[in-house]
Amino acid sequence: MARKCTPRYSWSRVDGMRIRGGRPLSGSVQVSGAKNAALPILCATLLTEGECLLGNVPALHDIDTTAELLRILGRAVDCRPPRVRVGPSTAALVEAPYDLVKKMRASVLVLGPLLARFGRARVSLPGGCQIGARPVDQHLKGLETLGARISLDKGYILAEAERLRGAEVVFDMPTVTGTENLMMAAALAHGQSALINCAREPEVVELARVLNKMGARVSGAGTAVVQVEGVRELGPFDHSIISDRIEAGTYMVAAAATGGEVRIERVPVEHLEAFISKLRAAGVAVEPDGAAACVSRSGQVRSVDVTTAPYPGFPTDMQAQFMVLMCLAGGTARMSETVFENRFMHVPELGRMGAAIEVSGHSAYVRGVGRLQGADVMATDLRASASLVIAGLVAAQGETLVRRVYHLDRGYEHMEQKLRALGADIERVAGLKA
Ligand code: UD1
Repeated sequence: MARKCTPRYSWSRVDGMRIRGGRPLSGSVQVSGAKNAALPILCATLLTEGECLLGNVPALHDIDTTAELLRILGRAVDCRPPRVRVGPSTAALVEAPYDLVKKMRASVLVLGPLLARFGRARVSLPGGCQIGARPVDQHLKGLETLGARISLDKGYILAEAERLRGAEVVFDMPTVTGTENLMMAAALAHGQSALINCAREPEVVELARVLNKMGARVSGAGTAVVQVEGVRELGPFDHSIISDRIEAGTYMVAAAATGGEVRIERVPVEHLEAFISKLRAAGVAVEPDGAAACVSRSGQVRSVDVTTAPYPGFPTDMQAQFMVLMCLAGGTARMSETVFENRFMHVPELGRMGAAIEVSGHSAYVRGVGRLQGADVMATDLRASASLVIAGLVAAQGETLVRRVYHLDRGYEHMEQKLRALGADIERVAGLKA
């Protein structure tokens, strides 16, 4: 019997996070499963008739949304993170409605699997979001190259094909979900596909691992060229998700920014090399210890310039959090954003907390001010929210209220409990005005 996940927020009630900062974090924290790996893997269950089992799935709102979407698509989903069971498919339902897709752009990841398995998909266009236009043209162009007929109808993408045919797909830029959608579609296509200029993120590699467990023939994931030899059908899988590198990085910055000492368990150090090297350049000690890492800072933070880039570069998903650390530094740091065009929404909010940051084009110039003050601030997207929470933990003077933390619930499992266990004075307040 499928059990429904309980939604952790409703749009009519807005929670906030109240933080009294100035305490160095100390102790240990365990990193949860990677959201961005779990989402495509949940969508990959659409490629098979069989029952699939996932472990180490984080309890997040985006997981609930994906479970809901799979139910609408005819799957029985028993969603009890860290375990999720996706039952056999009961019907060939192929429509992903606007109500769900608008909540979570990654819903577009059902397009490739539905089209490949059922020959048809009708998926709402995701639309814009806070951090930029984020089009899906590369997904559509790639599927067309595999032989799909694509049309747009009243805000929906309609994709059809009797059976997809393997082909060479060249992406204009590395796109994470685009690469994942095409890998899933090509897995059931007739013949060989070569996907060129692919995203190389660890989550892409993780999806390839799962597809291969299902019987797919995917090679080269983690490089710019992924080869997929299509097969007739795919089987079920049982898989435990990798740790979330962005959650791990967020706690690393929180430890460093508060001048604390934190042991981070289950940290995928090998997925964070560019980020950790910038952290070290900023004067933060990062000492790997098996599957854990100890992060501490005792001296002054040093300014370091950062440019975000697709993996293995510095992750755009760590830019906002790292900026808080740069606010505490001795000089001025240039932080350039090359992945998304509008990802400095946290800058004015950090300004309310005493930060001195100027944005010019794709760069933010962060003049270190040594300390921040508590303030009433508004979260605008997932990673911006995390940066405001870290800023609140740093601010020794006054109290910080971060509004609209539903963004955080999309991507950080039990964040306030984890931070409280590290000695933070943080509590959730319900029922705030949006
Ligand atoms: C994924 C991650 C997100 C991360 C981002 C970049 C998931 C669920 N989300 O998002 O957390 O911030 O990678 O690391 O894994 N683009 C196009 N056309 C397309 C597709 C992408 O122009 O068809 C552009 C985007 O606007 C952006 C760039 O390509 O400028 C990279 O975006 P992409 O890698 O696709 O991001 P997502 O997969 O949406």
